[in-house]
Amino acid sequence: MLDPYKIREYFPILKRKINNHPLIYFDNAATTQKPRQVIEAIKEFYEKCNANVHRAIHTLSQEASELYENAHEEVAKFINANGMEEIIFVRGTTEAINLVAYAWGLRNLKGEDEVLVTLMEHHSNIVPWEMLSKINGFQVKYVGVKNDGTLNYEAFENAISEKTRMVCLSHVSNVTGVINDVKKVAKIAHEYGALVLVDGAQSVPHLLVSVKDLDIDFLAFSGHKMLGPTGIGVLYGKREILEEMEPFHGGGEMIREVTFNTVTKRCSISWNDLPWKFEAGTPNISGGVGLMAAVRYLKDVGMENVKAHEETLTEYVMRRMQELEKVKIYGPKDASVKCGIIPFSVDGLSSHDIALFLDSYGIMIRSGFHCAQPLHEKFNLKSSARASFYIYNTREEIDRFVEVLKEIEQF
Ligand SMILES: Cc1ncc(COP(=O)(O)O)c(C=O)c1O
Repeated sequence: MLDPYKIREYFPILKRKINNHPLIYFDNAATTQKPRQVIEAIKEFYEKCNANVHRAIHTLSQEASELYENAHEEVAKFINANGMEEIIFVRGTTEAINLVAYAWGLRNLKGEDEVLVTLMEHHSNIVPWEMLSKINGFQVKYVGVKNDGTLNYEAFENAISEKTRMVCLSHVSNVTGVINDVKKVAKIAHEYGALVLVDGAQSVPHLLVSVKDLDIDFLAFSGHKMLGPTGIGVLYGKREILEEMEPFHGGGEMIREVTFNTVTKRCSISWNDLPWKFEAGTPNISGGVGLMAAVRYLKDVGMENVKAHEETLTEYVMRRMQELEKVKIYGPKDASVKCGIIPFSVDGLSSHDIALFLDSYGIMIRSGFHCAQPLHEKFNLKSSARASFYIYNTREEIDRFVEVLKEIEQF
């Protein structure tokens, strides 16, 4: 088991006081805090070897390029991909999904084709498909969610058909923390010849994820939700699919050659190797370096330990929250089927009221609909309060959280 108190030593921000109270950070599903190792790695990059990558032959550029490539390799190992050719650095989950939509979907979807999307998706796995369908005219079909927030697998099996070209689902819901059986969905999808795009924004930071074991075609996730910096994220794609895809953005780095043909008066362009074919322009090099440090840190902690710690906290918080009379928790009550995300409401108070009250005691949670409005509609909610945990959270913090919620009930 991991020791959150030892881990906290590495997170400078956790020493802060907010409104004269020790900071309790329960907004980890939105973004996580950064350990010293990540902050130092970025600082060291800028202090010692800052240069552009893959462009110059001088020492600094060679060093920066090596670091940036190592970051791809480290991420590839972390999710059990075949190598850095399958790892494209992007800004985050949102950009990764848009990349698939526009680089793959724009050319492959039309007319009667269908894309299946679940109703528990973050807007970033809904909006790009709806936008693209307005251009290409294919169908976006939604797979429902049961009252406890779990995916309706029966509905999925009824919805999938030979027309389905892509199945888009989150591995873990950012509202309820429900872990979807991605392996089962991928197996069925592949039987129908459909590809599978998994939104791993809430799973890669919290679970041991193997793209080979899940047998998925694409996986999107964000560095900032797994101790890394903002502005860096990952699209994993199976090599053979990425090889066949055309690039998303055009510019420098993603080309092998651009030559002007004096007869046609046009430029002929050939693409660079993977993954650079999908990384046009100067990339977020320091972000990649920071992400590599985050991945190394998580590997040291051990992803099994991360999962076990969060499960213990989730079990504990749900037990303690039963003491509260006016608080309602949404989603499944069994901590083993979910990650450490607790959506809740308090009778008579808006989610923003709850969040502001908690903030006055130094406790940071999220309020609103968490970019997942369709799921809130399913729960008949306009919004919810959400507490989400990570490796540095403790039982003591949960005790304090429940204590303050008791005060909110009085209020
Ligand atoms: C499940 C899920 N998907 C996608 C996103 C979007 O991530 P980003 O804003 O880093 O692109 C989030 C962020 O909250 C998320 O929780």
